[in-house]
Amino acid sequence: MALPAFLSSRIATQAARPTGLFGGVLGRIMFFETARTNREAVDLLAPEDGDAILEVGYGHGRTLREIARRASVRLAGVDRSEAMRRQAAARNRTLVRSGRLDLRQGDVASLPFANDSFDRALCVHTLYFWPDLEAPLSELARVLVPEGVLVLGYRDKRDIQSFDRYPPPTYLFRSSEEIEAGLSSTGFGKLSTTRSPGPMPTCSTVATRLGTQDGA
Ligand SMILES: C[S@@+](CC[C@H](N)C(=O)[O-])C[C@H]1O[C@@H](n2cnc3c(N)ncnc32)[C@H](O)[C@@H]1O
Repeated sequence: MALPAFLSSRIATQAARPTGLFGGVLGRIMFFETARTNREAVDLLAPEDGDAILEVGYGHGRTLREIARRASVRLAGVDRSEAMRRQAAARNRTLVRSGRLDLRQGDVASLPFANDSFDRALCVHTLYFWPDLEAPLSELARVLVPEGVLVLGYRDKRDIQSFDRYPPPTYLFRSSEEIEAGLSSTGFGKLSTTRSPGPMPTCSTVATRLGTQDGA
């Protein structure tokens, strides 16, 4: 059953940048709703002891906690929502207190980190809210070391049956080919995309930041 237009528009705006009480509740719903795609993204990320890892659009912060459970890593996150920064900080209190997790509020198009700061980065269900891919992906390339790995988790536009829940222009869905083209033009290579079927199919694209010897 389709949601009333005012409600789907309100949910979409909140998913793009959660605020206040409604945003806090939505973060808790996403915690469950996006678990599978995030688990697949972490599998592909394959964190190793000693890595520095960045998550963009961490939302509820569950995925950062999952990565910390898998390996002894240094973590950082950037999300433009202050409500999500607070929720993720509460969920990851021990990691933040120990200095293993640096949680920031900020925008992917201007990441508050030096060049070559991270070995791996991931970003799940977030690129729909980027009006263009070039600035965000260039920033991700800048903060990754050469040969650093980026994992993107998202829904391909061909798999969206109904846009009722995902109204444009708040949501901007792209195909995996468009995502791969964006990655190729911003310094990434060795691209591979896998599709996870099911009632809500998702894609995961893994990319490597090319070094100077690769011609980037
Ligand atoms: C739909 S939620 C996904 C949260 C989590 N990654 C997941 O898969 O459950 C999208 C998150 O990305 C954040 N976000 C959207 N656009 C962003 C941007 N340009 N820079 C940083 N964060 C952004 C939002 O604030 C929100 O917390």
